[in-house]
Amino acid sequence: MTTGQLIFIFLTITSSLTFTTTFSLRPLSGNRRTLPSQKHLRSDQFTVLINGYSESRIPILHTITGIYSSSPSVAAVVVLWGNTKTPVKTLVELSHNLSVSSPGDAPISVIRQPSSSLNDRFLPRPWISTRAVMICDDDIEIDRKSIEFAFNIWRNNPEQLVGLFARSHEFDLTNRRWIYTVHPDRYSILLTKFMLMKTEYLYQYTCGGGESMAQARLIVDEMRNCEDILMNFVVANTTGVGPVLVGAKRVRDWGDARNEGGRGLMTTEEVAVGLSSRKKDHRKRRGDCITEFHRVLGKMPLRYSYGKMVDSIGEQGLCEKGGKLVFCDQQFSK
Ligand SMILES: *[C@@H]1O[C@H](CO)[C@@H](O)[C@H](O)[C@H]1NC(C)=O
Ligand SMILES: *[C@@H]1O[C@H](CO)[C@@H](O)[C@H](O)[C@H]1NC(C)=O
Repeated sequence: MTTGQLIFIFLTITSSLTFTTTFSLRPLSGNRRTLPSQKHLRSDQFTVLINGYSESRIPILHTITGIYSSSPSVAAVVVLWGNTKTPVKTLVELSHNLSVSSPGDAPISVIRQPSSSLNDRFLPRPWISTRAVMICDDDIEIDRKSIEFAFNIWRNNPEQLVGLFARSHEFDLTNRRWIYTVHPDRYSILLTKFMLMKTEYLYQYTCGGGESMAQARLIVDEMRNCEDILMNFVVANTTGVGPVLVGAKRVRDWGDARNEGGRGLMTTEEVAVGLSSRKKDHRKRRGDCITEFHRVLGKMPLRYSYGKMVDSIGEQGLCEKGGKLVFCDQQFSK
């Protein structure tokens, strides 16, 4: 047996060990006792859960995980790898490559999702030690200052979703169905491209809401889409108010076709790998999801918010509304 073969076997064993451990860390569905109690979760830091999918984005993933890992408010960075076709060997290599960080930085790890279900993004994880989690995609690059700013906004609004990308639901009176759209001055849905929320909502999404939520999660699987919209339903159902939109200083959306020319990192084909890039059909399908969620849950919990929190002079948050900067206090009540 050559050294090469030995190394290969070692890798195989390590990888199966790594992933077996990961699997055993999964909570039994609905078993609250496997999760740390709320009061033991720390609120001065948050956990970053990055949805990894495309091997072509691994170079970007290096950059992004590095930024999060060196942010003072981040306790841990975990890449949740959702592409079941990626070889174990690649993930072991990726895990090794990413874990080489500077002393003092938050640890970075890679976990293979148990299935290709998009609902797996929101599995409650017993190893999360923070009160807040940040859910984000593997193609969004944000500056550290804006990350800290968003976290501060979350700390002041811990029940609400806080994020950088907003959309809206709207009722189409002619066709009597919901549509998914972008509205110039109001929003009701935040995207998981970058979203901060209470860790507790992972449990509510996965285990709460009874039979109707089970049906809604099934719709996510059937549509292979809309888990983010469903999370917005779950949170709005709890809070009775809309989410909080935050402005960032610098955002780079590598999944956005407008970045194609950017640094020449991605080809058109790679951009097309993104789950939501078939734009034409995309909005219609997302509207269908809203209509279906409304049907199975028996109500429409989504609420509109207006204005955006922007980081500016002083501690007082200023909001941008209709092109003017105003104090945010009254912005998020309805
Ligand atoms: C890991 O790093 C090595 C050396 O820089 C590189 O050749 C390899 O492609 C990387 N693999 C992954 C999956 O990141
Ligand atoms: C919405 O809230 C109600 C009342 O608090 C609760 O009974 C129901 O399970 C919630 N539904 C979802 C989908 O979370």
